Amino acid sequence: MNVSIFGLGYVGAVTAGCLMEKGHRIIGVDVQAGKISTFASGQSPIVEPELDQLLREGKASGLLSGTTDAMEAIRDTQVSIVCVGTPSQSNGRLNLDFVRHVAAQINDAILKKAEQHVLIFRSTMLPGSTRSIVTEMMAACVDNGLVEICYCPEFLREGTAVADFRSPSLAVVGTQNGNSPKDSSAFDLLGSDAELLNWEGAEMIKYTCNYFHAIKVGFANEIGRLSKHLGVDGARVMDVVCRDTRLNISRYYMRPGNPFGGSCLPKDVSALSSLARMEGVNLPLLENTLATNTAHFEALIKLIMAKDGRRVGILGLAFKADTDDLRGSPMVGVAEALLGRGYEINIFDPSLNLSRLTGANQTEINRRMPHLARLLRDSASEVVAGSDTVIAAQKCATIDELASSARSGQWVIDVNGWPQLNQLPWSYEGSCW
Ligand SMILES: NC(=O)c1ccc[n+]([C@@H]2O[C@H](COP(=O)([O-])OP(=O)(O)OC[C@H]3O[C@@H](n4cnc5c(N)ncnc54)[C@H](O)[C@@H]3O)[C@@H](O)[C@H]2O)c1
Repeated sequence: MNVSIFGLGYVGAVTAGCLMEKGHRIIGVDVQAGKISTFASGQSPIVEPELDQLLREGKASGLLSGTTDAMEAIRDTQVSIVCVGTPSQSNGRLNLDFVRHVAAQINDAILKKAEQHVLIFRSTMLPGSTRSIVTEMMAACVDNGLVEICYCPEFLREGTAVADFRSPSLAVVGTQNGNSPKDSSAFDLLGSDAELLNWEGAEMIKYTCNYFHAIKVGFANEIGRLSKHLGVDGARVMDVVCRDTRLNISRYYMRPGNPFGGSCLPKDVSALSSLARMEGVNLPLLENTLATNTAHFEALIKLIMAKDGRRVGILGLAFKADTDDLRGSPMVGVAEALLGRGYEINIFDPSLNLSRLTGANQTEINRRMPHLARLLRDSASEVVAGSDTVIAAQKCATIDELASSARSGQWVIDVNGWPQLNQLPWSYEGSCW
């Protein structure tokens, strides 16, 4: 394939070297003439292990050339990959001037060539940037159907960038509507097993990954600081924590939905951050963990209250399925908050038998919801039939059972990732939420 790469920094130069290794012909484009002459002579414009050799070999086999002329690069290739910088402004906001500029240049060049072109953006851009900024700058090409635009975030790490490109941790292709692109070049170049999303989803994935990495570093450092203060070996603690690949380093707890609850997480989070505060150890990430849960809970209450109707049904009252433990359950909090605002509440939870509640569990429910028995129903369909809005916190019925009573005009709020609820005739709020 003939591919032009716009922006020969860390991402662009590595992409060029690795695609030439696979036999593609590369034209590198940059606004810095010095970078182009270095690149065109087969040397790397950046320091990165293995890259000099890849560029030297590309040059020797006639696959490498460079130019500062966007017209020439577009004319001689069918696919372009955009890797220009997206730096921060002094106020912390994203500066997309290089993206705007390169999109305008490419737009003019494709119009002049007047042939179909595939354009793959790899620069990191906030969700919505491809749809608003890129398509605005390239409106003439988009309107004439001359360009297919994909947004494919890059996940390589400097220092191991060549190895990361050859074996990416994740490959993502974003298209306008999330459907397969008409031209498969993005998959051919970046990996046939790439995940397919729409532009915004692909853009969001890049930020989600980097935010997650940043939070992991912050979390490990805070645990390390607190451990050190307490005379504990924090590195050993984190090493052992990482050995649990079922609950800790896994997809568990990683689905947006219910606020956390139960008899352990709220209590233990509260205890450790109180200890840190008392000891004078500043841990902003740990300290704000309860606050983020409260914000999530309040968002859920707000969403419920925004729906018409005063009758709310709750499917699953305990903090998770297959337990009758009501301590710290977010749904007890939801019921409590709505009862206080005069809502009528219907609840079904197959694991709940009030006569069998004992100890702290019973004390909690007597304190927070003394009239719980009056609100409990015998089946999920009874709850659905008697409610204007249904909160599905657990999968405690089959879709067929719910189908007998779900009706149009009714809302279901899915806090537990049960997308099949969307098949019933009610209106669905899912995916948080
Ligand atoms: N560096 C990384 O490890 C990394 C990893 C993943 C994603 N990213 C993202 O990839 C993008 C590029 O990052 P980078 O570190 O390679 O940036 P960089 O600053 O090293 O390189 C960007 C290059 O783009 C060139 N450029 C600017 N405008 C141009 C134009 N109109 N035409 C041609 N070239 C132009 C610049 O001269 C520069 O050489 C950024 O959005 C970054 O956030 C970077």
